Amino acid sequence: MTMTRRRFIKNIVYSALGFLGLSGGGYYYARYMEPAMLTTQTYTWKHPKIPASFNQVKIVQFSDIHLGFHYSMDQFKDLIQKLKAEKPDLLVFTGDLVDEPQRYHFSSEIPSLLNELEAPLGKFWIYGNHDHGGYGTEKLEAVMSNGGFTLLKNQVTEIKKDGDSISLAGLDDIMLGAPNIAGTLNQLNDDTFSVLLVHEPDIADRVKDYPVDVQLSGHSHGGQVRIPVIGSMVTPPYGEKYVDGKHLISDRLTLYISRGIGTTRMPYRFLCKPEYSIYTLHPNP
Ligand SMILES: [Fe+2]
Repeated sequence: MTMTRRRFIKNIVYSALGFLGLSGGGYYYARYMEPAMLTTQTYTWKHPKIPASFNQVKIVQFSDIHLGFHYSMDQFKDLIQKLKAEKPDLLVFTGDLVDEPQRYHFSSEIPSLLNELEAPLGKFWIYGNHDHGGYGTEKLEAVMSNGGFTLLKNQVTEIKKDGDSISLAGLDDIMLGAPNIAGTLNQLNDDTFSVLLVHEPDIADRVKDYPVDVQLSGHSHGGQVRIPVIGSMVTPPYGEKYVDGKHLISDRLTLYISRGIGTTRMPYRFLCKPEYSIYTLHPNP
C-alpha cells in the first residue's frame, strides 16, 4: 500500500472515529480501560562496549506523559510510585511532560513528586515537541530542574561507575527545538558505549552516521490507536517510519521507542497499551 493511499485511508478512519466515536464496548475500552493499563517493556542490552562495572545496571525510560490531556495528577502520583518501586540506577525522561504548556496549571506538587524519584547514576531528561510548544520551554526547564532532573540539550555527559563510564547524549527537540545533531554526536567516540536520548524516533536515519549505539525515543505513542490491517492512527511527523519497539537501524545503532504514558490528540488507546521501559545492561555480546 502506498504512503499516500495509507494516509488517505487513515484520514477517513480517523475522521470516522472522531465523528461517530468508537462504537459501544470498543469505545469504552479504548477511552477508559486501555489508557489506564500501564505496562512495562523489558529489554536486555548485551554489548562488548558495556564496561564490566555496568553489569546489571538498570536504566528506566519514561516518556510522553501529556499531563492535562485526560491525564490527572492522581495518575501522575501513581506513576511516580511505580517508577520508584523499580529502583532504577539511571532514570531518563524522553519528553512531553504536559500536553499544552500554555494552558496547563502547573501544580507545585510536580517537582516534589519528581524529586521522590531516586537513581544513583542520575536523572536526565530531554525536550519533546509539546514541551517547547506554547511557550513551554522555560516552564518545563524549571519544573524538571526543580524535580532533580538534568536537561541534556545538545549535550553529552559521562555516566561513571567504579572507574568505568558510558556516554549519555541528549538532543534538543527535532521539531520545535534547535537540535545540533553533528555538534553533539561528534563528541561521542567509537570506543565508549553511547546512548542517545532524542524525542523523535525517525531521526535515527541520520543518527546512524555517528557513533551512537542505542537511541531512546518516544513521541509516536506507538500509534496510540491501532486498527488491524489499516494500522496506527497517531503517527506524528518524525514518528511515522519507526513507531514502536526495537529496530536495528545499522550494524551499530539500535533504536527503542517507548509507547509513552499518556495520550494526545484523542484520549484513546487501542491495542497499544501505555508503557515505560526497563533496560538491563550486560557487558558480553
Ligand atoms: Fe507525546
